Amino acid sequence: MLRRLHHEQPESFAFTPANMDWAEAQISKYPEGRQASAIIPLLWRAQEQEGWLSRPAIEYVADMLGMAHIRALEVATFYFMFQLQPVGAVAHVQICGTTSCMICGAGELMEVCKAKIAAKPHEVSADGKFSWEEVECLGACSNAPMAQIGKDYYEDLTGEKLAEILDAMAAGNVPTPGPQNGRFGSEPLGGPVVLTEGAGEGEKLNASVALATEIGDTIKRIDGTEVPLRAPWRDRSDEKGDATPDTHAPKLSEGAPVDETGIDKREAPVTPAAEVKSEPATEGRKPETLAAPLEGGADNLKMIKGVGPKLEELLHSLGFFHFAQIASWTEEELAWVDANLEGFKGRASRDAWVAQAKTLAEGGETEFSSRVEKGEVYDED
Ligand code: FES
Repeated sequence: MLRRLHHEQPESFAFTPANMDWAEAQISKYPEGRQASAIIPLLWRAQEQEGWLSRPAIEYVADMLGMAHIRALEVATFYFMFQLQPVGAVAHVQICGTTSCMICGAGELMEVCKAKIAAKPHEVSADGKFSWEEVECLGACSNAPMAQIGKDYYEDLTGEKLAEILDAMAAGNVPTPGPQNGRFGSEPLGGPVVLTEGAGEGEKLNASVALATEIGDTIKRIDGTEVPLRAPWRDRSDEKGDATPDTHAPKLSEGAPVDETGIDKREAPVTPAAEVKSEPATEGRKPETLAAPLEGGADNLKMIKGVGPKLEELLHSLGFFHFAQIASWTEEELAWVDANLEGFKGRASRDAWVAQAKTLAEGGETEFSSRVEKGEVYDED
């Protein structure tokens, strides 16, 4: 199936503070230079927050992880769990259409979706509340036909039962998930023939349904406020005012795994830029540099798309502090800079720093710099 970005896109995306905290903790699980490994959880959380993945959301996550946008777009468009178009505000209904479910009545469930939601999958209903799609086997075949709605499975469905569930959800209720025909779990339709005594006797709901019922959120989107994330591996000493950070804790990196072609260097060990002690590369011609910023202080080089805190530090160490310096680089000088961005080689040309710097040096703004001004771009500092 061809998966494309939706023709209408929002202006921007930003994680809520709680989701940002969660995302930072996820990223910190990975060693320096491997932050791109967090791409799927972060995209998933962005989808949970908005209901679907917009282009600004995908690019925002890519920027957080120092990845080329195309790499994040590849992930988002490859996996079907990522919704690339708006979904219903109340719920997106996923009907299993694989063999067991199809034999047992998935076609009837899809007819209900067509009648009650929209004639075609991935269309939002007229009232904006629901959308639906057919998905591959969801692993509940012995309770076919079934649908995943929000976080839970509704199993042993009939068309009539699904219609009732949708009506209940539209009215703001959360119907009990699990089997809808009175079964406890996936025992034979005629009742259990083994394990008929002991644990579970007298219980009305199986464990997963009992927990889902207790939580009762089924279709509520995760906004990061549900349960405070415990991340004991993470260095939080700065937030506690402790001046002695845990040097063993991994730090968020900007962009390390991308080489000059924009391709992840996952197969090769990546050395953090700050630790590189190699001699300067001799390609191109070294531009004029400064020993220190001019009076008035350095420009915020992170206003240039592709420059994060680590790269800004590296640029300072090379003698570049101002937009005007970058704006004046010739082709030869750009080649020298590209070759000397240890850990980020080629980044200056790839992200067109010179053109961006020219705009910024003249007092103008770029689409990216205006997002930085609004605080919409993640910044480790
Ligand atoms: S075939 Fe529908 S859950 Fe497996």
